[in-house]
Amino acid sequence: MSRLVRLNDVGPRDGLQNQSVGLDPVQRVDLIRALLGAGVRYIEVGSFVSPRAVPAMVGTDRVLAELKTDPGEFSVLVPNMKGYELARDAGAKCVGMVLYGTESMARANANMARADAEGIVEQILQRSADHGIRVEATISVAWECPFDGPVSADEIAAITRRVLRMGVDHLVLADTIGAANPKQVRELTTMLVKEHGADRLACHFHDTRALGLANVYAALEAGIRGFDSSIGGLGGCPFAPGASGNVATEDVVMLLEQMGYQTGVDLASLMDASRLANELTNNAPGGRAKAWLERQVGKPQHQASGQV
Ligand code: COA
Ligand code: ZN
Repeated sequence: MSRLVRLNDVGPRDGLQNQSVGLDPVQRVDLIRALLGAGVRYIEVGSFVSPRAVPAMVGTDRVLAELKTDPGEFSVLVPNMKGYELARDAGAKCVGMVLYGTESMARANANMARADAEGIVEQILQRSADHGIRVEATISVAWECPFDGPVSADEIAAITRRVLRMGVDHLVLADTIGAANPKQVRELTTMLVKEHGADRLACHFHDTRALGLANVYAALEAGIRGFDSSIGGLGGCPFAPGASGNVATEDVVMLLEQMGYQTGVDLASLMDASRLANELTNNAPGGRAKAWLERQVGKPQHQASGQV
């Protein structure tokens, strides 16, 4: 099985959408460039959503314009067709549409029914090839919903089947509120990898109950090779009560590199991005291993990665 892992940093979207103080597009681009400088190739750089719902993401068009010639794979989140059209007009090359494990979450996040969200993915896919846009989807509350409680694996398997058949490039299973445990993660990801293979699947964990890294490990063991994570552990969803930050990119890179997986990320440079995330937001704890990681900066790479 592959030792390569595809990391997608969602801090500039999932992280910054939730801050009490919004950053301007220039600051957002600074953070994105710090991630690029550390070798993070996939970055979710913003969203095209209602400015009333998420004021912090206003200006994502300017972020994309600024990044036009930067070497990275940038995606933007869209909740509906209007979001898709705005993303297309702003020159996005990859959009991530949100789907839902429960009706309550669909209503809370986007004021729509789950089936409507799936219908929008289908409509987007009918146009995206002509626009040269890749389409990804994230199933929000894939394990547990803050309103409806546990979500059955069969339900998520059914959505996954439908959406992969429609032709999305990538499907991300999101533990939006950080409620899943590694046993549940192993069960769902094993089932889905068996049915679809791992190439088009990824996972997105929040660290609310300190199980973020354990859940990454469980999914990895099941064959998943794509993970969302967030620089500085920034994150949380304004529409999902109880959600705290995403699993920190710093922690995930450390875990993977120590186990001999390749992420393409340089930990020392990543710590620069981590510091910048905290300077900009004053609210980026930096993952659970931050103190140890800071002490490794400047040591030879093999020592810093913990490999022997
Ligand atoms: N981008 C920008 N503006 C949008 C938009 C989008 N994608 N979709 C709708 N709007 C605007 C409409 O034009 C309308 O503006 P107006 O009042 O000036 O005419 C207004 O928002 C309301 O539109 P409506 O279609 O009635 O939407 P709604 O109020 O039912 O809200 C969403 C639905 C999807 C737009 C909103 O819930 C949303 O943006 N959710 C995203 C939440 C999010 O980002 N969550 C975190 C990620 S999972
Ligand atoms: Zn999230």
